[in-house]
Amino acid sequence: MTQELTSPSPAPQAPGTGRGPGWWRDAVIYQVYVRSFADSDGDGIGDLRGARERLPYLKDLGVDAVWLTPFYASPQADGGYDVADYRAVDPLFGTLQDADDLIRTAHDLGLRVIVDIVPNHTSDRHPWFQDPELARQRYLFRPGKGESGELPPNDWESVFGGPAWTRTDRGDWYLHLFAPEQPDLNWDNPEVHAEFEAIMRFWLDLGVDGFRVDVAHGMIKAPGLPDIGHGAQAQLIGAQVLPFFDQDGVHAIHRAWRRLLDGYGDARGKQVIGVAEAWAPTAERLALYVRPDELHQAFNFQFLNAPWQSDALRSVIDASLAATASVGAPTTWVLSNHDVVRHTTRLGGSLARARAATLLMLALPGSAYLYQGEELGLPEVTDLPDEVRQDPAFFRGGRATGAVGPGTDTESAPDGVAAGGQDGFRDGCRVPLPWSGELPPYGFGPGGSWLPQPADWGGLTVAAQTGDPASTLELYRAALELRRRLPGLGDGPMSWAPAPDGVLALTRPGLLCTVNTLGHDVGLPAPGTPLLSSAPVTVDDATAQLPGDSCTWWAI
Ligand code: NOJ
Repeated sequence: MTQELTSPSPAPQAPGTGRGPGWWRDAVIYQVYVRSFADSDGDGIGDLRGARERLPYLKDLGVDAVWLTPFYASPQADGGYDVADYRAVDPLFGTLQDADDLIRTAHDLGLRVIVDIVPNHTSDRHPWFQDPELARQRYLFRPGKGESGELPPNDWESVFGGPAWTRTDRGDWYLHLFAPEQPDLNWDNPEVHAEFEAIMRFWLDLGVDGFRVDVAHGMIKAPGLPDIGHGAQAQLIGAQVLPFFDQDGVHAIHRAWRRLLDGYGDARGKQVIGVAEAWAPTAERLALYVRPDELHQAFNFQFLNAPWQSDALRSVIDASLAATASVGAPTTWVLSNHDVVRHTTRLGGSLARARAATLLMLALPGSAYLYQGEELGLPEVTDLPDEVRQDPAFFRGGRATGAVGPGTDTESAPDGVAAGGQDGFRDGCRVPLPWSGELPPYGFGPGGSWLPQPADWGGLTVAAQTGDPASTLELYRAALELRRRLPGLGDGPMSWAPAPDGVLALTRPGLLCTVNTLGHDVGLPAPGTPLLSSAPVTVDDATAQLPGDSCTWWAI
């Protein structure tokens, strides 16, 4: 199944060489959810060629790197997070040559490329799982409980709903923390370690600049696979250490990978990174994943999950900065991704809040992850018909958001939008991007789009927003340009300045950032000259009026 390159090519040199201070410490990284980004061949599914054609757009937007979600050979039981061959590109998305071309083009443009790696589980179509002998050594099979083994080995629930165990024809059970088509690997087996190191080297040789590690907190299970003894496990994820999540044993794996990444990078004069998708109950436990000898970054879901309230935002920012500082790592910020409700909708259905939250995020020290379409202010799509749904959680009755992803600001969620968007599932944030035109598929590709796009997205397309200074797209462009121009904004110090209730004020090298989280104007002595604002700010007689739900960057 592994594909060969038609014309093998040397690994492209990433822009910027040497270990240096770390390009990733303040990088803005754009998540490309490949199947929904751009379609080149008209099958309605985004692909690698489509993504490559749109790289100049990302360069122009001003990001430093792209993260591509899985495009590997997969039956697509979970949007490609069920990998059948880690070294092959699924024909839906193109060929290995297309991946190679994309990486080269990105590098030519000065963009780095991060790819996903999925080590907690494979597809049930993976050759290892297909071979009964191999499967028993490399996955987690157990006898069932009950008189004839008819009960699952323990009480663990799948993140997508239902038991985390499926019984085989032979009568034993295998563990799948996600869908039954995603059996969990046995990381006690050294062959599993060796295989993943080889997979990493394969993609590094093709030139990638790093890996986003899926379920980085899941590979090691507590000895004996003990019961949790508690229902509603979805609520416990990220709230406490569980026998299957955030076990201390995962850190040895991350340390080994860091040695591999550093060794590989040092030999080639480049820095390659690992970013953990890890759910840990506290900022301190999350920081363990980014100790100097572990991964470089970890997604900060505590920030993503914070309600739109000044005190809550301030305390999550402080906790995040303190925790990462204690291990010498920069903080990583994120507001949206393919597993959670888009932040325009999550923050009370308010584009004003979403724009303000983004400007706040981009003013914070550290690295930031953007999810495709947030730069257009896209809302969650909340009226998808059941027949187009693809999220496996929808079919298993789980609530993927809140389990795969965090909970949401339910108090301010608009009517009809439950904690997880339409109804807790993840298709609504994965609707293909609108690029141009007045009608679906809005330039997404020459055919249709695998999920229907709303009829009223004509004003949200890239083409419609380009050049309009009031648009969200131009706000992102301006913020990213300023971020590049202001020395030290990414990785420099930050301190809080005095501010009225409901308002945050923080100083960074070269700017002061104010955030008014209240729904109405707040006046305060103008702290400087407005550089950029998410909503029109006025300054009269040295008094600034901060619009409700706004963020402003001030030159000081
Ligand atoms: C996290 C990924 O982001 C999500 O989309 C996926 O369903 C799970 N991990 C399982 O791989």
